[in-house]
Amino acid sequence: MSPSSLANARIDGRRFWSTIERSAAIGTWRHGLNRLTLSDADKAIRDQFVEWCGGAGLAVRIDEVGNIFGRRAGRDDHLAPVLLGSHLDTQANGGRFDGIVGVLGALELVRTLNDLGHVTRRPIEIVNWTNEEGARFSPPMVASGCFAGVYERDWVYGRTADDGATLGGELVRIGYRGEVPVGGVVPDSYLELHIEQGPILDAERLQVGVVTHGYTSHGMLVEFRGETAHTGPWPMQSRRSALVAGARLVAAVDDIGWDFAHVGGKASAPRLQAWPNRAGILSEWAQVVCDVRQDDPVIAGIMAERVQRAVGEAAARAGCTCEILDRWNWGGRIFDEAMVELVRDTAASLGYSHRDVASQAGHDAYFLARICPTAMIFTPCRGGITHNDGEDATLDELIPGVNVLLHAAVARADR
Ligand code: GLV
Ligand code: MN
Ligand code: MN
Ligand code: MN
Repeated sequence: MSPSSLANARIDGRRFWSTIERSAAIGTWRHGLNRLTLSDADKAIRDQFVEWCGGAGLAVRIDEVGNIFGRRAGRDDHLAPVLLGSHLDTQANGGRFDGIVGVLGALELVRTLNDLGHVTRRPIEIVNWTNEEGARFSPPMVASGCFAGVYERDWVYGRTADDGATLGGELVRIGYRGEVPVGGVVPDSYLELHIEQGPILDAERLQVGVVTHGYTSHGMLVEFRGETAHTGPWPMQSRRSALVAGARLVAAVDDIGWDFAHVGGKASAPRLQAWPNRAGILSEWAQVVCDVRQDDPVIAGIMAERVQRAVGEAAARAGCTCEILDRWNWGGRIFDEAMVELVRDTAASLGYSHRDVASQAGHDAYFLARICPTAMIFTPCRGGITHNDGEDATLDELIPGVNVLLHAAVARADR
């Protein structure tokens, strides 16, 4: 194939869209999707993805934490692969694009290279990471984190859902606990295409976001322990309600978010669980998941310290004990400058309007950045609406990002 036909290569938008639509029919919920990690719907999209990979001639590998890799051989096949991907799991009221565009965009890239008959020098691998969302098993991005050596495999297996199911057990149940040891390989580089999940590109009518870095985020899983008692006779002075401690923390975290709102800080406690959580009885146990996010790592750290203090204050006020069971953090200026520049140059050379943007959401790319040169490409999404079944984007809005992925990945893989 001539270099000029490669330079002029563009993805097949109709094929890409029909693949997105097929995905959007698996685990439907309202106008969007509910494909919680390792649910039956997640199994169904995984099965479909494996079938698509096979159809595109990719060699499929599944690792011990269920990450699915599809490999396209390179001319120098012993070289480290260029890795491309994102996630196919969704929130409970998720959209059809969050994560999905990155995985299916990578698949479309492979199909396009197959059509062209172009074999890159380095192998190209595409990947679906397990449990990006952290909606069923906390925290998010455990499997890319495990791949990058941040989390232990057995700790990942022990992540537990509301119904007591473990991540390890659910991998076995749906047949996606693979044989391949997780991690231990260092890709040449990693590129992740994703919808912006913010309003900037849509508002400015720009086609491509060049992601420079991620907001720093600190997350915590907090547990409170108190004592059950009758809500009638039991004196106020003697109460030790874990639910009250949890509710106080939820409100305190929200206050912290408001205190930092003027500098774009966000603080959230999106999940409060309690037991027995019934009428007439005080709860003896509660757990809260919370996180803070800010562009400046120093400010993010100050916000996290305030949350930690609020945990102790909420416990003391409710007469409970508290423990921070897990902590996680990500973000910062972690992307590789040359890779970010490659994305920017590729967008420019393809004639797409673009700008630099920061990412405020979590992405698997943050963990990959710890082991190999990494960058991200954003596409616009309507009004920045996401983690909502109203998440929306048109094919025309997605195509530029996928073409940037194509050309940036090929440039890297032919190096
Ligand atoms: C995960 O993706 C997050 O942003 O919380
Ligand atoms: Mn995502
Ligand atoms: Mn998401
Ligand atoms: Mn995310």
